[in-house]
Amino acid sequence: MCGIVGYIGPKQAQQVLREGLQRLEYRGYDSAGVVTIGDNATLLRAKGKVAELEQKIEEHPTTDGIGIGHTRWATHGEPSEPNAHPHHVGDIYLVHNGIIENYKDLKQQLEAYEFASETDTEVLAALIDSLYKRADVKLENAVAQALKLVEGTYGISVVSQKEPHKIVVARKGSPLIVGVGDEETVIASDAAALIAHTNDAIYLKDGEIAVCTAGNVEVMNLDEQPISAVVEKIETNLEAIEKQGYDHFLIKEIMEQPDTLRSTLSGRVVKEQNLLRLGGLNMSEEELRAVKHIFVVACGTASYAGQLASYYIEQFCDDVTIRNEVASELRYRSFNVPSNSIAIFVSQSGETADTLACLNEMKARGVRCLGIVNAVGSTIAREVDGGVYVHAGPEISVASTKAFTSQVSALLLVGLVMAQAKGIEPKVIEQYINEFDALPGEIQAVLDRHDEIRQVAERYKDYDNAIFMGRDTLFPTAMEGALKLKETSYIHTEGQAAGELKHGSIALVDDRFFEVAFIDEHRLFEKTMSNVIEVNARGGHVMVITNSTRDIDAETVVRIESQLQLLTPLVLNVVSQLFAYYIAVARGNDVDQPRNLAKSVTVE
Ligand code: G6P
Repeated sequence: MCGIVGYIGPKQAQQVLREGLQRLEYRGYDSAGVVTIGDNATLLRAKGKVAELEQKIEEHPTTDGIGIGHTRWATHGEPSEPNAHPHHVGDIYLVHNGIIENYKDLKQQLEAYEFASETDTEVLAALIDSLYKRADVKLENAVAQALKLVEGTYGISVVSQKEPHKIVVARKGSPLIVGVGDEETVIASDAAALIAHTNDAIYLKDGEIAVCTAGNVEVMNLDEQPISAVVEKIETNLEAIEKQGYDHFLIKEIMEQPDTLRSTLSGRVVKEQNLLRLGGLNMSEEELRAVKHIFVVACGTASYAGQLASYYIEQFCDDVTIRNEVASELRYRSFNVPSNSIAIFVSQSGETADTLACLNEMKARGVRCLGIVNAVGSTIAREVDGGVYVHAGPEISVASTKAFTSQVSALLLVGLVMAQAKGIEPKVIEQYINEFDALPGEIQAVLDRHDEIRQVAERYKDYDNAIFMGRDTLFPTAMEGALKLKETSYIHTEGQAAGELKHGSIALVDDRFFEVAFIDEHRLFEKTMSNVIEVNARGGHVMVITNSTRDIDAETVVRIESQLQLLTPLVLNVVSQLFAYYIAVARGNDVDQPRNLAKSVTVE
């Protein structure tokens, strides 16, 4: 949720940290801070966005070559300067992502310390300091010993003026990447903050500590035994994480979808052979054939992607049942896993704490686990038995758009490859292949009409409530559409099964509400239309998004021209993505970093 950066090398650390924090701001943005170490330590912290911190940096510039920084999404303690990181206790400066669960017990034991904040992080800093005070203890020894006493999750970065030539970092359940350049070492919780400096990186694993000096990294475990670390190449380039002339990352990412979708499908859809193939599932044909039950586990947009794909998979794999589970619920409830089950974890970031916890639970139960992940090298991608990278490229805007389209497509590929093994009729595969072929072009056609959708958004921008509805595959589409509008515009929205409206929500229909109905010409057209008519009859303001050419009685009708029979939801969804974007812009909101949200939710 929060972002960590660190730098040691010949450049001015403050500037490297400032730039890194800007790139990580999408992960958390209620306060930020940096400390650099020279003759003195210069600790600067500010409530609010990184811009506030930048002002302080301008007022107190340093030329120091070592420092750490943080951008925060508050868990313990409100967003404020005393609660912002780095935390300074004794000789220790510490930034931390995650949650120290036993911080209250630890705090009681650290009687000698006075605490200036309400955070669990300050307690960890005090714990490290108390151990560091002992004779002959180096910073890495104190960190290792402290972490053995800690319950919870952490990605941490620690510096001390007593040893001004090193940064000690560690992780458990919260990502940390160490970039190794020529004579410099850059630390970040996300590759986005590294790639301006180097593409060579060590992805720390849980329970590992790295001692970083300029251009050199030594990794060890909590028992302080050395570990040989692998340096990997980060594939992303700088261009992919910049706005490239767009006003916001959100619109850039919406507009990128034809290309990102092609990347998802590339090499996996072999049209000439009427074949789908996935290299990374690590399952034999026989194992694929044996699957009878699939748990699809995710959070937020990724969970709607899972629900949408499940409608299709259960249709073409008629011996498979699918259970969609929101990870935060599944992790604490009793559930049974029938034999011949697999579990699929869907995550853009690959770091979502709840999804990861479910993955660990499923692994402990011996279930084969697959990942549908966007962030290459992320924890979920590393922990699963196999899976599919969706290759949508870095998604920076907090509201997820291009990842959704690619997640649904990747899930469909998994389902279809399974169906292939089970002996599905080739003509079904052919139909999906033809639709995948046409899909990027159809999405492009919607994107080309962005101005028209902006005008529609103008009409609805001042409402405070909305209901999105649809049936069948358009029900998860409605939930995703509602989520997108809610996140970006702060309009209260609900996504509903259209048939459920009359069981409650229709009571809400009045002049302060508008309703968005997704209607598919080829699936339950009349049924959903009857729900629209029911709302019309009560004076509701209905906007229909459809691929139909039939007469439709509604206040607004956005029609798309589509040849698709199956994958229409992925095209209609783009209309509601643009709609949400333009409403958010019209309302003057912080489009890429909506209030209270974070891109990667690494706490539960
Ligand atoms: C956060 C993000 C959402 C995302 C969800 C799941 O809430 O703001 O955009 O859908 O987490 O994240 P994941 O990275 O697991 O897909």
